[in-house]
Amino acid sequence: MDDTIIYKTEEWLALKRHYDSTRDLNLRQLLAGDSGRNRVSDMYIEVGDLHFDYSRHLVTSETIDLLMALAERSGLHERVSAMFAGVHINTTEDRSVLHVALRMPATESLVVDGTDVVKQVHRVLDKMGKLSDDIRSGTWLGYTGKQIRNIINIGIGGSDLGPAMAYQALLDYADPALKVRFVSNIDPIALWQATHDLDPAETLFVICSKTFTTLETLTNARKAREWLLNGLGAPNEAVARHFIAVSTNEKEVERFGIDVSTMLEFWDWVGGRYSVDSAIGFSLMIAIGKEAFTDFLAGFRSIDEHFRTAPLSKNMPVIQGMLNVWYNNFHGAQTHAVLPYSERMARFPAYLQQLTMESNGKSVRLDGTSVGIQTGEIFWGEPGTNGQHAFYQLLHQGTKLIPADIILFSEPVRDIGDEHDALFANGLAQAAALSLGKNASEVAAEGVSKAIVPHKVMPGNRPVTVVVAKKLTPAVLGQLIAFYEHTVFVEGCIWGIDSFDQWGVELGKAMAARLTPLLAKDRVASQGRESEVDAATSRLIDLYRNQRGR
Ligand code: F6P
Repeated sequence: MDDTIIYKTEEWLALKRHYDSTRDLNLRQLLAGDSGRNRVSDMYIEVGDLHFDYSRHLVTSETIDLLMALAERSGLHERVSAMFAGVHINTTEDRSVLHVALRMPATESLVVDGTDVVKQVHRVLDKMGKLSDDIRSGTWLGYTGKQIRNIINIGIGGSDLGPAMAYQALLDYADPALKVRFVSNIDPIALWQATHDLDPAETLFVICSKTFTTLETLTNARKAREWLLNGLGAPNEAVARHFIAVSTNEKEVERFGIDVSTMLEFWDWVGGRYSVDSAIGFSLMIAIGKEAFTDFLAGFRSIDEHFRTAPLSKNMPVIQGMLNVWYNNFHGAQTHAVLPYSERMARFPAYLQQLTMESNGKSVRLDGTSVGIQTGEIFWGEPGTNGQHAFYQLLHQGTKLIPADIILFSEPVRDIGDEHDALFANGLAQAAALSLGKNASEVAAEGVSKAIVPHKVMPGNRPVTVVVAKKLTPAVLGQLIAFYEHTVFVEGCIWGIDSFDQWGVELGKAMAARLTPLLAKDRVASQGRESEVDAATSRLIDLYRNQRGR
């Protein structure tokens, strides 16, 4: 037996046997009586501000033991240590994976490839702090001497989703005198929407791009520069007062024409989807201030330390990651719902989609051979209670098994009424309804006619993780993000894949670059096209040109 392949190991086969013998586990029974009470206190971890309850999962303590044995077998311990030590675990790009260094305190040091990366991180954090203070206080003025009132973050993917999500989540901590907006799409309406009602003299663009070569971001940045200079009727020098670049690529920033003395740097060892806590979070820092941003980083850090040091069976991201493996690889689940009961967390599921799916949407192992088993789940979700009136029906009575994370906050972000009790109660109710359901006799006892009873039965047994924090704060948001980052890491380790590259997005980018000129006004229709595109694409190009009168 080739036991270097995870699904051929004794630990995997033991889990398979265990799955076969525990198919009829019933959450109602598991949660009932004294043993239910014991289960609830056993299957519970508290770290930092997060209370993590995994008692509503289709597992017994034996399942957890077997999952932990599989985690051990996969080399998780060694891989976690390797990440924290700066080993080049992103092998296809020959890079360290060091987002954890972004939140190490200045008192620490981590020398990687001959450089103390913690020093680098704090040098940039200090620069961000000074610049954001200057912008917030009005020390930094626009070209015509007006104070900056509008911040527009231009970036896409990891250079947008993190700061955009976090800004919305932390809106109650943001300076209300500042308008902060995010532009990502190459659809020209996005930039128009963000700028059309603003005064260029009061507007600062933060151009975020790790590579500084991304088509969408550079296109929008060029248009933004045009908007600024036309609006001000000013020469190119005005750009320096209205554009700040965040990137790893100083050469391209300079070529674009942004002052490199204000550039905020990060490094190739920060993956785009792991970058909200790097200089990519600069717009967020301007909004909430450097002190709150420091709290945000401290939140990440507390989960990092827990992940690095806690034993596997008491380790929150390890348990969650292994539960995900349990459903994905043994129960055949395809998707995973994330349901934050918080309007402010509306963009969190979208943020997690990039984090989880760009990381673990892979089908070859590190050695390039086929992975042979299911990998990354499809993450999706919406805030509660909105989702309850949309897709929860399928969660409750559909035919698919969809593990769900319900995220709850005990305190509202603003004291504006007692409705928060109802919000929290709805989250609790859904966790209970999903896991416990309602059986036929309970339905019948309500006087429901026999023919309708089956329609009202709720099978229950839907697995749910419940995470509770007292309040959505910068530190709590940092903890939640780090929790999911490390969960992704655990799953990637089991599958033996590179969770830190994203080659799959390249082909479409290259194709779009080839197709764009074929749509252009001045291109003669069909000219030499056969050799460039397939028949189906060619037909749609004709349709487009036709509809645009070209
Ligand atoms: O297209 C995918 C991607 O490379 C993401 O991984 C990244 O977050 C995004 O594009 C933006 O890249 P950049 O920050 O280099 O503009």
